[in-house]
Amino acid sequence: MFDWQQEAEILTNRYGTERMRSAIETLSEAYRAGRNTLAPRMDDQLLVAAYLAVRFPATYAANRSAGEAIAEAIATRASMEDFAPESLLDLGAGCGAASLAATEQWPSLATVTAIEQMPAMVHVGKQILADAIWRTSRFEEIPELPLHDVVVCSYSLGEGRSDTLLVEKAWKATGQLLILIEPGTPRGFSWILGARTRLIELGASILAPCPSAAQCPAKDLDWCHFSARLNRSALHRRLKGGTLGYEDEKFSYLAAWRGGLAEGLPRVLRHPLIQPGRIETELCVAPERRRVVTTKRNKDGFKRARKLGWGDAFDVAPAAGPELSPSDD
Ligand SMILES: C[S@@+](CC[C@H](N)C(=O)[O-])C[C@H]1O[C@@H](n2cnc3c(N)ncnc32)[C@H](O)[C@@H]1O
Repeated sequence: MFDWQQEAEILTNRYGTERMRSAIETLSEAYRAGRNTLAPRMDDQLLVAAYLAVRFPATYAANRSAGEAIAEAIATRASMEDFAPESLLDLGAGCGAASLAATEQWPSLATVTAIEQMPAMVHVGKQILADAIWRTSRFEEIPELPLHDVVVCSYSLGEGRSDTLLVEKAWKATGQLLILIEPGTPRGFSWILGARTRLIELGASILAPCPSAAQCPAKDLDWCHFSARLNRSALHRRLKGGTLGYEDEKFSYLAAWRGGLAEGLPRVLRHPLIQPGRIETELCVAPERRRVVTTKRNKDGFKRARKLGWGDAFDVAPAAGPELSPSDD
């Protein structure tokens, strides 16, 4: 398999550490400002080298993390433990982070079609996913996207001005599952929320992270997002500075499903507060959020709640007494 870390190392040697650092800084500034990947004016090859070194590992980690939560929701809400999709369409594929994560989550994916407008991204992507069908094109230019079991738009929805149109086209091309992932920022979440509203209008079932298609309670919450931890390579540390051995990528996501679904479990919205004998967990039970306290009185529940983290489905059985208590504060 193609070693993308090694490729990032080779590209860094080609461009030199200082040029790479400056390209990464420009890319990060554009990212923080919510501008699109193509906004930084720099050589395309250098941009892709910077992307591969620092953004690809992060978007890949976000896709892996969302993919696990989605697979769990498919098993529990669609009763499809054996979900085995065969085809994947990746829109705004970059160099293939989302496709790579999806094929690891669902090894049954035999056909991967990746659509990406930047030839330099496609060039690297073809090495990472050699068996995929790569199309160098803008998705607006493809009148009708071909039908695939799974469609993914990873960090690409906010890239264009026509995000609603993209959502509609993407849903039309979805045989079973549509995955949208965006930066875990207020702006990234607003794109996800807009897409959610449109998808519900189009008849989609909302699979994850929401427990149902009821109104999103995020207005009191700032924005709904999750976090994926990724190990930082020596190259990543050298290029981005800092000493920590890991980085937390914040992301917002949505999985839409074609077909009926059972009601989902509440979703853990942030790191639970663990205190001696007591765990406080903030949950989404759309249309509201709720804070529940699990104490040691609920022996099995307490054990389970200890294992749950931000982003997990909350499957703690209530104690016999009034253990799960809503709190409005
Ligand atoms: C932030 S990158 C994300 C890449 C990849 N999906 C990932 O998760 O790492 C966004 C990608 O979408 C591509 N893109 C943006 N608008 C596009 C369009 N209209 N048609 C095709 N690709 C597009 C950009 O060229 C860029 O490679």
